[in-house]
Amino acid sequence: MRISILGANGQLGRDLTAALSGHAIQHLTRKDFDVTDHERARAVLSELKPEMIVNLTAYHRVDDCESNPELAYDVNVLAVLNLVRIANDLDAKMVQFSTDYVFDGSRTTPYDESSEPFPLSVYGNSRLAGEYIVRTQARRYVLIRTCGLYGRAGSQGKGGNFVETMLKKARNQEPIRVVNDQAVTPTSTADLARQLAVLLPTPHEGLFHATNDGACSWYEFAAAIFDIAGLRANLSPTTSESYKAPARRPRYSVLENKRLKELGLDRMLPWREALAEYLG
Ligand SMILES: NC(=O)c1ccc[n+]([C@@H]2O[C@H](COP(=O)([O-])OP(=O)(O)OC[C@H]3O[C@@H](n4cnc5c(N)ncnc54)[C@H](OP(=O)(O)O)[C@@H]3O)[C@@H](O)[C@H]2O)c1
Repeated sequence: MRISILGANGQLGRDLTAALSGHAIQHLTRKDFDVTDHERARAVLSELKPEMIVNLTAYHRVDDCESNPELAYDVNVLAVLNLVRIANDLDAKMVQFSTDYVFDGSRTTPYDESSEPFPLSVYGNSRLAGEYIVRTQARRYVLIRTCGLYGRAGSQGKGGNFVETMLKKARNQEPIRVVNDQAVTPTSTADLARQLAVLLPTPHEGLFHATNDGACSWYEFAAAIFDIAGLRANLSPTTSESYKAPARRPRYSVLENKRLKELGLDRMLPWREALAEYLG
């Protein structure tokens, strides 16, 4: 299958390119076009004629979105609408990504695909608006919500990834304070890419949650990183309140891969096993 991957140099993009190596991958980065340049996006994709468009681009600096909502909506919503229209015109399947931050975190049990979203931040709102565009406008689509990604390439948009940041701080013997009041599921992009290589070639469409299995706080995740890596670190727990971050984050945003499980397609590892694989 001809598959255009947009944002192919990002952490999921690199691993997905490898996992889909049996397909004709069209590796697209900002150098090919900025997704906010609608005309250029259409010209390049019309030339390539992909059968599937995988959009990994996003403006996902969560705190910066609060002060720059225009850019958040340009990248996370209007560019998505343009890509959906291109996909429809090319009769291509649209594959779009979204986030656990579409939920408000008031629950204490995992959110599945039927749970009601209620975002707390500009970022979460823009991603939910992007979801609605895909769900209401795309003729054929797969929409993936995931959480807490880390991968070998490191997030381009966020300047690295959480695991590498923790390892660096520990090696420099810096005091490390990490929030212990946000429950998430850290997810390895290598493992998610393998899952996508199973799901995307099937005819199954619609909304899917896809994260590693289980849950922890960011503090517990940091502790596991040091435990598995065999590093001693000056780690202590802190609260979201003490961080005073501009964007509100959900206290609990654990997702359940309910649809993947129902279809017998869930291949995602428990988060600690995926972390051990990454560190190994
Ligand atoms: N990271 C997480 O924890 C997390 C959690 C939930 C969902 N997600 C979603 O999962 C997807 C993949 O995430 P990721 O961590 O792999 O992201 P990433 O490493 O930051 O990669 C995103 C890629 O998109 C490109 N990009 C961004 N804006 C663009 C634009 N306007 N035009 C063209 N290219 C643009 C970036 O290029 P540049 O390097 O040139 O900026 C980068 O290569 C994203 O939709 C993300 O929001 C991520």
